[in-house]
Amino acid sequence: MTSVATPSVVTPSVVTPSVAAAPEPSGVRRPTTREFLMCRPDHFDVHYAINPWMDATTPVDRALALAQWETLRATYEEHGHRVHVVDGVAGLPDMVFAANGGLVIGDRALSARFANPERALEGPAYHEWMCAQPFASVAAAGETNEGEGDFAIARDRILAGTGFRSSRAAHREVAEFFGLPVVTLELVDPRFYHLDTALMVLDETIVYYPAAFSGASARLLAQLYPDAVIATAEDANVLGLNGVSDGYHVFLSDRAVGLSEQLRLRGYDTIGVDLSELLKAGGSVKCCTLELHGVRTAAEPSMG
Ligand code: ARG
Repeated sequence: MTSVATPSVVTPSVVTPSVAAAPEPSGVRRPTTREFLMCRPDHFDVHYAINPWMDATTPVDRALALAQWETLRATYEEHGHRVHVVDGVAGLPDMVFAANGGLVIGDRALSARFANPERALEGPAYHEWMCAQPFASVAAAGETNEGEGDFAIARDRILAGTGFRSSRAAHREVAEFFGLPVVTLELVDPRFYHLDTALMVLDETIVYYPAAFSGASARLLAQLYPDAVIATAEDANVLGLNGVSDGYHVFLSDRAVGLSEQLRLRGYDTIGVDLSELLKAGGSVKCCTLELHGVRTAAEPSMG
């Protein structure tokens, strides 16, 4: 049923199961090379609506979506990151949102279990890709778990969203599977249905949009990250928080102008990317990107 690309040139080898990086010298931000999994939007469309951004009557320009996606991939590669690509599957229009495919930390991978039946078959497709990699342990989530959409790896802890998609039981399952503490955060605004629409890990700190969280969860974030960057509603409303940081560069929507300026003032280099077609499905930069944490491939040319 699924057709899954396996690495043709390089295979990822796991060098460390640790997600903790050495603290940076104060005032200096350094990028670290990342490994990403992406899924080309060959089958992208919006013909069902499972979040408030989606309108099944809006036409989608797939050629434009593909061009925007290719630009994102090229941008990562130009900045030294390695991109792996899993083939999309016909009939799974949201599979381009690779962040939802699961979680990979070191030599362990947990594939997703989707909340909506429309996306259910993406779980096995990502699982199959993971099984073709040299991970020591690959499991399929038993609980409703939308991967990095709801689980943000923040050094020695995992920040986890619930309320719309991933369940609290999934938070416990993730803590157990990866042996890391999981901090449960409750999402309350349906426009910010995944954690990665309201919070981004930068390096030692985070950026988030407090109004997307319950009062208790927003207070907890303020306590855990007193130096966090606080995003405005304007930037949150263009999914500006749905970005990817390598510790220095932050790849985010080119519409998040205010957030970009805030991040620059904090010493990050921001790279604006136009993903307007994918925004019609409620996704942006991070949604298209599953990070393979703690996985490093050899320095051969990048695979397809
Ligand atoms: N249409 C998709 C959904 O509603 C968008 C997923 C975006 N992914 C993300 N990581 N936030 O599930």
